[in-house]
This record gives sequence, C-alpha cells and structure tokens, in this order.
Amino acid sequence: MKISVLTLFPDFIENIKDFSIVGRAISENRLALECIDIRDFAINKYLQVDDYPYGGGPGMLMQIKPIVEAIESVKTENSKVYYMSPQGKVLNQKKLNELKNEEHIILLNGHYEGIDNRVIENYVDEEISIGDYVLTGGELASMVIIDGVSRLLDGVLASEDSFTDESHYNGLLEHPQYTRPREYRGLAVPDILLSGDHEKIRKYRLKESLRNTLNKRPDLLKNKKLNEEEKKILKDLLEGGKDNGLY
Ligand code: ADE
Repeated sequence: MKISVLTLFPDFIENIKDFSIVGRAISENRLALECIDIRDFAINKYLQVDDYPYGGGPGMLMQIKPIVEAIESVKTENSKVYYMSPQGKVLNQKKLNELKNEEHIILLNGHYEGIDNRVIENYVDEEISIGDYVLTGGELASMVIIDGVSRLLDGVLASEDSFTDESHYNGLLEHPQYTRPREYRGLAVPDILLSGDHEKIRKYRLKESLRNTLNKRPDLLKNKKLNEEEKKILKDLLEGGKDNGLY
C-alpha cells in the first residue's frame, strides 16, 4: 500500500518513518510513505500558498492552485484523496480497516483557517476527522491514520491475534491483561489466568471484556450484535454481577 501526505510540514511527518511498527512496515516494503511539500507548488517566488478569504473574515486560507497541483503530482486512477478536517466523519477502527485495503491513499493536510472550498468539492473523495476538537493542521491526523493503518497491513504484526483480540476489533473493549510477577505488593493476578483451563479463561475474558465495555464505553454496546452467550453475561453484569456459573 502507498500513502502520500500533502503538507506544508513534510519534516514533521517524515519522522514517523523511523519508528516502531510504521518503520517496520516501510522497511519490509509493506508500506510506501511519501511526503509532498505543498509549497513546491506555490503561486510565486515568495512561496506563497495562502491568501485572505473572499468576503472577509479572520485568518488566511490555503489556495486552490498549490493544493490541486500537489494532488495531481501523485494521483493515479487508483488513488483516493482524503482531507483531514474537523468537519469530516470521525475516524474509527472500521474506517482504518477500509483504508488499509486501498491501493493508494492521499492525505491532504490543511493549515491556517482551512483551504479553498473548491478543493473539497472537486478534488477530495472524503473528509476525515480524528475527533471533535480543532487542531492547528491535519498533520497529526495523518499520522494517526498512518499508524493505525500500518499495523493492519498483512504481515506487519507478528500474528493476526494481535489485533483480532483487541479493543474495537469486534465492537467491544479488550479484557484486562497481566504479566509477571504473579504478585506485586499484594496485588495478585486473577487466579483463573493461571489455571491452564483454556475454556474457562476464554469465558472469563469475554465477561471482563463486556464488563469493561459496559463500564467505560456503554455507547459501543448499542451498535454491537451480541450472541446468546454474550447476552447472558451482559444480563448477569447488569443484574449486579452475581456469579451466573459461567466460570
Ligand atoms: N484538522 C484540524 N482539526 C482536525 C481534526 N479534529 N481532525 C482532523 N484534521 C483536523
């Protein structure tokens, strides 16, 4: 997969190439990441890329010409253009799973007070937000996407379980996890995890995953289709967590 980032701050994004999972995805040729400096397409020798908004108002807008020419410098028939914007649909795990199946995504980053709307209407496939707050530009949002997509690419994580098991993959939050030592300052790991009984552990983890979701993100349960086992556990949790004999 290829990701092209169109930005006024290519050095900011370039840094991500050297780290952790994203770095590995790149070095193993599973991800190609390029940064295009929108200023290379500036309208004059002063490298101007912004101007005052027609009709007045605060701040400066990024102009159409440098952006469109930056898009055209990387776009092919298999590319999709995404504009990072607080007006976009809020990013979630489902969207990251869709993005990782694209051949080439172009992430357009705005700055100043935004960009000329003709770009959005005519050259952008979709706007993406990373949350209901306003950042100074789209670069951090692009980095969130690069990070979130890299780890989903085939072969990047050691095993598929690494993400099929975790929060948001199946619409629930992940169960709590523990590692050695077994006890620290009187804080013990739940005995059941040391029992070696895989079926009991599976049920325990499912219950704790549902408990976590109910306590921390009850809104997720509205969109989740629960199977019979999950419904039974949830009912038990809602009735005060009394032991229902599941484990
Ligand atoms: N640019 C500014 N704010 C943003 C946000 N919340 N998400 C994505 N891009 C942005």
